[in-house]
Amino acid sequence: MPERLLEAMKYSVLGGGKRVRPLLAYASSELVGISPEMVDGIAASVELVHAYSLIHDDLPAMDDDDLRRGRPTVHRAFDEATAVLAGDALQALAFETLCTDPILAQHPASQMRVIKWLAQTIGATGMVGGQALDLAAENKVIDEAGLQEIHRRKTGQLIRAAIMMPSELASLSAHQREQLDLFANEIGLVFQIRDDLLEIEQDTATLGKNAASDHNKNKSTYPSVLGADEARKRADEIYNRAITALDTFGTSNKGLKWLAELIMTRSH
Ligand code: IPE
Ligand code: IPE
Ligand code: MG
Ligand code: MG
Repeated sequence: MPERLLEAMKYSVLGGGKRVRPLLAYASSELVGISPEMVDGIAASVELVHAYSLIHDDLPAMDDDDLRRGRPTVHRAFDEATAVLAGDALQALAFETLCTDPILAQHPASQMRVIKWLAQTIGATGMVGGQALDLAAENKVIDEAGLQEIHRRKTGQLIRAAIMMPSELASLSAHQREQLDLFANEIGLVFQIRDDLLEIEQDTATLGKNAASDHNKNKSTYPSVLGADEARKRADEIYNRAITALDTFGTSNKGLKWLAELIMTRSH
């Protein structure tokens, strides 16, 4: 691997993210009753995609941000071309990881469904489509339904996949799968509403990213569309709906509930 490209990939992936998506995958493995080792590949793949998406999201052509996790963004620490390529390579590495994981390979039918989950999640109908809608909504007035759609896609879908991909390796009843998917969808939306709110609640030092970024780009966010109080109320309502869906699982839901609370109360 070209050294500079590899350095940029490592800078991004090993640069101090919270690892929320892998943690959700592991907590989900606990809930569906499979060993954590079975989801190592899934956990790594969602974090690699997340890292790639942030490198590209920060580029001048997109959100044009200079700070991420308290350090210069990848295109600032390296250069734009290296940032584009590092993102591309991390996306490929995510799929390579799922294709070559020895434990997943023991369950080829499940492995194929897991790969399909990730592919469908991050493309034009999912994460990347959401990013396109997010950029198109700059300097525009959009309504709550439109904003919710953007948030569910750009952020919610990958979080949903982190929770649902492990379920492809287990046997859940239709009702259980439906309830888990309800949780996964709603907690993904909550994550981005809280992220919008954090930008107005915290300073740049605490966030590790520019606290004026959304404002400067005239982005549509939950607080800008609804007002901060109403946005907080919305996050509470959706969070409550999400964790209620976990009731059917008994005590195996402990990890996911703990992470859901963390998503609500995090400071960055
Ligand atoms: C930030 O995600 C980008 C969004 C999708 C809101 P995280 O807050 O999970 O980022 P890191 O990985 O912990 O930095
Ligand atoms: C990031 O959303 C979503 C993806 C990278 C897919 P934002 O642009 O709102 O997140 P931050 O504020 O840059 O972390
Ligand atoms: Mg963005
Ligand atoms: Mg951004």
